[in-house]
Amino acid sequence: MLTFKQVHFYYKKGQPVLENISFTIEPGEFVAIVGANGCGKSTIAKLMDGLLLPKEGSVELNNLDTSKPSDLTRIHEQIGLVFQNPEDQFITTTVMDEILFGLENIRVPREEMLERLQHALQAVQMEDYLEALPHELSGGQKQRVAIAAIVAMRPKIIIFDEATSMLDPQGREQVISIMHELYGQGMTIIHITHHMDEVLSAERMLLIHQGRLEFDGDPLTFFETMPAADYQLHLPFAMRIHQQLHEKAPLTADWKEMIRSQWSIN
Ligand SMILES: Nc1ncnc2c1ncn2[C@@H]1O[C@H](COP(=O)(O)OP(=O)(O)O)[C@@H](O)[C@H]1O
Ligand SMILES: [Mg+2]
Repeated sequence: MLTFKQVHFYYKKGQPVLENISFTIEPGEFVAIVGANGCGKSTIAKLMDGLLLPKEGSVELNNLDTSKPSDLTRIHEQIGLVFQNPEDQFITTTVMDEILFGLENIRVPREEMLERLQHALQAVQMEDYLEALPHELSGGQKQRVAIAAIVAMRPKIIIFDEATSMLDPQGREQVISIMHELYGQGMTIIHITHHMDEVLSAERMLLIHQGRLEFDGDPLTFFETMPAADYQLHLPFAMRIHQQLHEKAPLTADWKEMIRSQWSIN
């Protein structure tokens, strides 16, 4: 369980970025974090992992506290971060090395390394690219290797910080489907995104607005009851279709299904 308790944060004193943020994420949840550019989403990701420390309040992972230096190693073991730019994430020369690098760092025994390597590459469907070099891969493939490198470390939580935003639609779809696959296997997924279509398929959405936690709940409920535009959020495609159908049909994340059901009514 990952808990923010009344977290306050600023980079420059007098210019608060986050104010009094409290929430708990349970194991196995799929949570989207949204909000306008610069509202503090990446800051939250870094606070979760202990890369930044709260100025007030605390960030806790089970019985570990990010402000205790002696807890940080165990926190890093349990949380993986995937960032926006796949270009920045490749540090070695081949796909295989990229994954083994992390495992060597945490001193995984050799036999187990190969098993983890294989499993991680399968999870992102990159098992045919073992010897590939970074420049031979598309942005989406690089991002999948970055995910594999994290999966191989066997964290309990993966935070995707706008990890789909630089990818083409196909790459984006693949990464989203990997996220759902990992979620299905019981991993906690935290997806920071500005693509509202991706938000609808999350179990829960946290909206950060002017430093505060403005909404914490079911994304469908948010889009049905709150003025998304006031928070500089687009409406998801499914939502726009729903509005244009002018119908009482229930809103679901699956816009194709919504259209189908409208067809059979008429
Ligand atoms: N290292 C930093 N030093 C000073 N200000 C920063 C730093 N990183 C981010 N900020 C500022 O903090 C605010 C929140 O940034 P960030 O968490 O990156 O937002 P988001 O990820 O939601 O776009 C922004 O105003 C940003 O300019
Ligand atoms: Mg950000």
